[in-house]
Amino acid sequence: HTAKTGYVLVVSDANAQADYLASSILHHAEEKKEGPLRIALSGGSTPKRLYELLGSEEYANRIPWHRVHLFFGDERLVPHTDEASNFHMVKEALLNHVDIPFRNVHPMPVLEDAEKAAALYQAELQAEYGSSELQKGKPLFDIVLLGLGADGHTASLFPGTPVLQEKQKWVSWSVPSDAPHTRLTLTYPAIESSRFVIFVVSGESKTQIIREVRDGDKPYPSAAIKTEGELHWVLDKAAGGE
Ligand code: 6PG
Repeated sequence: HTAKTGYVLVVSDANAQADYLASSILHHAEEKKEGPLRIALSGGSTPKRLYELLGSEEYANRIPWHRVHLFFGDERLVPHTDEASNFHMVKEALLNHVDIPFRNVHPMPVLEDAEKAAALYQAELQAEYGSSELQKGKPLFDIVLLGLGADGHTASLFPGTPVLQEKQKWVSWSVPSDAPHTRLTLTYPAIESSRFVIFVVSGESKTQIIREVRDGDKPYPSAAIKTEGELHWVLDKAAGGE
């Protein structure tokens, strides 16, 4: 599947998006009888509301957090205590509220040397996966949550950056021209090694880019996302242009 053949769901608001995500996690937890449920989380502001809901009373005991191994789709190279850190956002919104063993939470390392940080995270992913070669039919992630930037980027795969060409490494880095901070990001091969990719997009600022990614043929990074499994777009009414 590519983003163009994904399944689009327009729901009313962030609560409905959280409902959908929670039920997707549950479904995959049930489907995958045993073993860890590997989820890669997206950053930015959209999923913050989602993570707060997943960490709320209503959901916290519906999701088998003891089986969840949490990873990150990308990270800004700032301290984990920095407001701009995706880990910081996930910790505040979710990790502080659910009972997930800390050894199962895998923040991206923040080092001055982005190359070294990317290599470290790749080694962590390969240790978790049990091999340094991704194999079709044995996806690295069960669920990959992605956001969408108004310029069509996703994770930290920004238009016109070299990381878009990376087909070997699982983690790389990027210095986006119009976003602050050097970024670490999963690459296309790592994201493709998944059972389920969910783009969660909210707000009218994304209406135009959603229309272009869905219907146009511009090579936006988000439009090139593939998965071995299913690809869903879960939009709120505003992003869905309704
Ligand atoms: C990040 C995200 C990035 C995000 C988009 C949308 O680290 O910023 O991973 O890909 O999903 O930029 O961000 P908003 O949800 O804040 O619009």
